[in-house]
Amino acid sequence: MHEQSLHCALSNVRGGLLEDTMAASRVLNTMNRIFTPRLTVRLSVFGTVIGGAVLLRDYFGGAVCKSQNRIEGKTVIITGANSGIGKETAKDLARRGGRIILACRNEVKAEKAQREIVGETGNQDVVVRKLDLASLKSIKEFAQKIISEEPHVDILINNAGIMRCPFWKTEDGFEMQFGVNHLGHFYLTNLLLDKMKSSAPSRIITVSSLAHTTGEIDFDNLNSESGYRTADAYSDSKLACVLFTHELSKKLKGTGVIANSLHPGVVKTQIGRHTGVHKSGFSSFILSPVFWMFVKTPKQGAQTSIYCAVASEVEGVSGKYFRDCTEADCHPRGRDDAVAQRLWEESARLVGLDQDGVAQEKQS
Ligand SMILES: NC(=O)c1ccc[n+]([C@@H]2O[C@H](COP(=O)([O-])OP(=O)(O)OC[C@H]3O[C@@H](n4cnc5c(N)ncnc54)[C@H](OP(=O)(O)O)[C@@H]3O)[C@@H](O)[C@H]2O)c1
Repeated sequence: MHEQSLHCALSNVRGGLLEDTMAASRVLNTMNRIFTPRLTVRLSVFGTVIGGAVLLRDYFGGAVCKSQNRIEGKTVIITGANSGIGKETAKDLARRGGRIILACRNEVKAEKAQREIVGETGNQDVVVRKLDLASLKSIKEFAQKIISEEPHVDILINNAGIMRCPFWKTEDGFEMQFGVNHLGHFYLTNLLLDKMKSSAPSRIITVSSLAHTTGEIDFDNLNSESGYRTADAYSDSKLACVLFTHELSKKLKGTGVIANSLHPGVVKTQIGRHTGVHKSGFSSFILSPVFWMFVKTPKQGAQTSIYCAVASEVEGVSGKYFRDCTEADCHPRGRDDAVAQRLWEESARLVGLDQDGVAQEKQS
């Protein structure tokens, strides 16, 4: 009886094995039919392309700010913080503690960003203050509010920007890109300088662009009145940002306030909103896979701003240009002492500031 059941069990096992072997061979046959050598080659090419694309994306994602420094007790102002690089910079700095002031022209968008930042970081000390860099009046009102309300300002990030818009003028008649990207930040920074000096050690960071390398400062056509090329005007305004930082750092020597400019990388944000590619749904659709590989996310684009704002390595470093969280060479035109000084004087005249070392407001 015992032997009989053993025999039965063995034959069951054998039958099961046979069935399993046949099933496996059926699967193998099917796989062989599906994965022909041709398909296998195609799949490996596909895998290599995807893998390569991921590696490229990783490479172009750029450096990450590794500093763990916290900023409790410090006050930070970030212009244009309601979207893109500015919002991500604000989010990171909010996570590090401190008081974060979102200086924005569109208060509805800014309040939405503020709720998002508070929600994600848990930092309740994130506030919105109205600032339109295309209006000297708005800049002055903003600065007065900051000076009267804030005991100190430790970090100012001149981040807002407009790119390749049509020939528009600011409220005060300046060409829009020169007016917002350079003159607006020039005026704002000067109005806040005393506050920043009394808060020293403090940092001023101006977001420029690699586009500054093709910029030129034409003192006879600062406002593009005798010829406007939208891409050139952007590059010129970004060169002005680098030159402004160059001159500012000289004027700030010995004050404990440092000033640096930077290129954030090529970042997927709203900055291209006035360009043809951005407006054309078809081009965006075709180009988006390519952009996906080569273009940084806003979070990646914010890394160099964050680095310049908090990293210990930047302490005492002033008048420099950064990219990918590293000091880099700006174009030699961005280090031209004579042009930087003249641009400062012209800018001060245009916004109505007197020349007195660091510009002081004219007594009217
Ligand atoms: N993205 C890139 O590839 C790239 C490359 C190099 C340099 N940059 C620079 O990075 C900075 C941030 O740009 P982004 O890429 O983050 O673009 P973005 O998403 O378009 O952000 C630009 C910000 O600037 C604000 N802004 C524009 N005009 C203003 C004004 N008159 N007053 C106050 N705020 C104003 C915008 O406010 P609204 O939302 O109200 O318009 C927005 O918050 C800019 O200086 C840009 O030139 C960007």
